[in-house]
Amino acid sequence: MNAEAQTVVVDQIAGLIQHDLVPQDQHHARPAAGQLWDAAAYARNGRFVADLGATLLDWLAPQAGERILDLGCGDGVLTRRIAESGCDVIGADASAELVAAARELSVDARVVDGQALPFAREFDAVFSNAALHWMKRDPDAVLAGVARALKPGGRFVAELGGAGNVAAIRGALHAALARRGIDAAAFDPWYFPSAADYRARLEAAGFKMLRIEMYPRPTPLPGDVAAWLRTFAQSFLQALPLAQRDELLLEVQEALRPQLASRIAGAVWVVDYVRLRFVAVLEP
Ligand code: BEZ
Repeated sequence: MNAEAQTVVVDQIAGLIQHDLVPQDQHHARPAAGQLWDAAAYARNGRFVADLGATLLDWLAPQAGERILDLGCGDGVLTRRIAESGCDVIGADASAELVAAARELSVDARVVDGQALPFAREFDAVFSNAALHWMKRDPDAVLAGVARALKPGGRFVAELGGAGNVAAIRGALHAALARRGIDAAAFDPWYFPSAADYRARLEAAGFKMLRIEMYPRPTPLPGDVAAWLRTFAQSFLQALPLAQRDELLLEVQEALRPQLASRIAGAVWVVDYVRLRFVAVLEP
């Protein structure tokens, strides 16, 4: 990322405060149920996800009157932006908390499992920002559901974490849990495909790729990396009893300091995000 782009990213997240921990007072000796979202904390601290994803709306180019599905709509900030283009938009998300927050923005949002989408031939486009990488159990079922949801010729415009996304963080979490005798693979909720892999899956689901890009997006954080972990890496934390989690967070943060504490453009912590963006159309 060049200096100008970096400055834009920093500007977009300026003023954000540290992420909050969603309390979990039980740990799991088996794989965790997964990520839980606290809508209020996300609204205060996770705003950069929508801010940095907003340029994906240019790829979507929503037209007034179109019917659009926002898959993994979160708290509905980008969904509402699409609706403001004059579109008829449905937001779908697995989190009831976030769906409730989206409804407060007057978004028509529903609790839906992205791996079992219930729609049939009704959307001109499906949009998804920073959500597909949480749907790890069955990525092909996600794509089959998107294909079913679209009208023939409809488009699928999305961004997700690509191969190598947050690799330093992921590696440090796996290493810290391994030191405690825990295989982090069972608690790892993220699916970050390569462009070739995702393209093949899209084509197998009946899509034709119009555009696909993979690029590093080093992302300055508003707080420290422990705050990021509290918001986005809860599945890993659930491997431990509550009383041991702060120690894990500090250990992981110190392990990451040499790689991620870069002091770029005033931010202390810069996370190694990699984005995979694409536009694909459903073959008629
Ligand atoms: C992402 O948007 O790439 C992402 C966010 C949180 C955790 C993992 C990945």
